[in-house]
Amino acid sequence: MSSVTFPKTFCWGVATSAYQIEGAVGEDGRGESIWDRFAKTPGNVGDGSTGDIACDHYHRFREDIAIMKRLELRAYRFSIAWPRVVPAGRGAVNERGLDFYARLVDALLEAGIEPFATLFHWDLPQPLEDAGGWPSRDTAQAFVDYTDVVTRSLGDRVKAWITHNEPWCTSMLGYQKGIHAPGRRDWGAALSASHHVLLSHGLSVPVIRANSRSARVGIALNLTPATPASPSAADREACRHFDGWFNRWFLDPLHGRQYPADMVADYVATGRLSPEGLSAARPGDLAAIAAPTDFLGINYYTRAVVRSHDVPEEQNHPRTVHLAPESSFTDMGWEVHPEGLFEILTRVHLEHRPATIYVTENGASYMTGPNDAGRVPDAKRVCFLRDHLGAAHRALDAGVPLAGYFVWSLLDNFEWDRGYSQRFGIVWVDYRTQERILKDSALFYAEVVSSGQVPAR
Ligand code: FCB
Repeated sequence: MSSVTFPKTFCWGVATSAYQIEGAVGEDGRGESIWDRFAKTPGNVGDGSTGDIACDHYHRFREDIAIMKRLELRAYRFSIAWPRVVPAGRGAVNERGLDFYARLVDALLEAGIEPFATLFHWDLPQPLEDAGGWPSRDTAQAFVDYTDVVTRSLGDRVKAWITHNEPWCTSMLGYQKGIHAPGRRDWGAALSASHHVLLSHGLSVPVIRANSRSARVGIALNLTPATPASPSAADREACRHFDGWFNRWFLDPLHGRQYPADMVADYVATGRLSPEGLSAARPGDLAAIAAPTDFLGINYYTRAVVRSHDVPEEQNHPRTVHLAPESSFTDMGWEVHPEGLFEILTRVHLEHRPATIYVTENGASYMTGPNDAGRVPDAKRVCFLRDHLGAAHRALDAGVPLAGYFVWSLLDNFEWDRGYSQRFGIVWVDYRTQERILKDSALFYAEVVSSGQVPAR
């Protein structure tokens, strides 16, 4: 394989989220989020940690932007913490919270880095959860009001908006499996949550457009191509169900199709929905959810290999299935499968034709730390990025309107229920001193960004 060249206009970036990096949870009037509460409840986070300090990005954002500038990144995807801006979830606005994001955005623009702001990356204000959370329709309206506040204030400078990060995680990990905040285990609640998250997306699209002229608006979905572990009818059937639960339940309504009929039938058959179907959905909701957007963000990490006897929606983490003897896995236990990125990009392009696609997250957890010389030789992450960028390039060649790619993540950070036991950064963070060290993968990525080329294997 020879090296490949990306278009000059390709948007090269990195991604982070508020709760995972900011820290400063009690500062400048920030309210409590469901992740503060969840992480402080013993047993929820593997290593017993919280995002209280995390990477202290709230105080060190200028240093972090300087790193991005050094890497010559074109774009930075970050999220805005709802509890900083509207501490009670609805009602009074906290100007000091908004000011933080204004300072961040101004510093990015000054560094020549385009801000991509995500409005919701899981840190729901706790008072809204106390009032019912995403399973309650009122939360969708509260999100629209919060979006209005943020986009009125930053809409003149931020021109790329992502409403939600990974609605599957919000609804299924948070309300069905309970391994993410708020830790509920209730199928009915999870399906209502998924509907209200999608509805809040659709209702906020016109609000963003009104407040942020010429802005581009989209949503980021985590998509996992699924393959049956064997050609047996039972494995193929399990694979259909997995794909419906994980991918189609979100992709279809966003693109003007109904919720997938086979999934509604499955959920009714298993008593997860009443025989009338999704009671949360009211007339007009599906049209609102399908509001035209400017781009679709795809977060891609791995594929699923589905076997009929391990129903993945009943497990906390998908089991590791070795289909090929050469399969390799990251420290999260996720299979490294670059081809899946090509597969999901081409599939979504052919089935739904979004105007533009960004890979809004892609990356790998490897624990490699600094050696005696102070270098972080994370060769596996370099390989991972190179091979996934190769797959992204093949998708471009196949006609996918791929406009950019964001590495997850700039910094090692608080990895949700895994705490600090997983490191996804291209920049090492020493959590004791808050020192940052560029890993080899950061230097590799900087080379890709400046040359537009991904070297051959
Ligand atoms: C994604 C999340 C992101 C990070 C990565 C590893 O699902 O959007 O916050 O945790 O996984």
